[in-house]
Amino acid sequence: MIHIHAYEKIWMALTVVMLVVFTTLIGVAAFANGFQVPVPYGRVDPNTIKTTGSFTDANLGLHELAPGKFEAYLLAQASPWRYYPGELSVPVGSTVTFYVTSSDVQHGFRIQDTNINLQILPGQISKATYTFTKAGSFNYLCGEYCGVGHQGMFGKIVVK
Ligand code: CUA
Repeated sequence: MIHIHAYEKIWMALTVVMLVVFTTLIGVAAFANGFQVPVPYGRVDPNTIKTTGSFTDANLGLHELAPGKFEAYLLAQASPWRYYPGELSVPVGSTVTFYVTSSDVQHGFRIQDTNINLQILPGQISKATYTFTKAGSFNYLCGEYCGVGHQGMFGKIVVK
């Protein structure tokens, strides 16, 4: 019979308790709070992004698919550091699906007062959907350091 010291038993028990607690919290976050692991929605070629596909100047911005149902294509870019377009406007109650990508370096796309917080990588399209039930101005900003102009990288969604 192996002798296990009382302190050792306590630490072993604490380890098991911590595993159960953390596993439970992950389950609550995933199923009750709806947290999602970011997965790329699609791929694009950053070199041709401005001339072909969904992220050309002509296609960027909002498209109304049905009353109250929109999709929005946004391009994040460094030097100058900004989003194209820098402002969107939708009626209250609208559901907007965002498709965001970068033409150069890693950026972020976080919409204040919502649960939208995406990592934006060149070559990859990130997608998220949100329903704006309250009127107001919702800023979107870059949440990943992307160079000297990072802090000035933001835009807004006006819900009215
Ligand atoms: Cu773009 Cu930080």
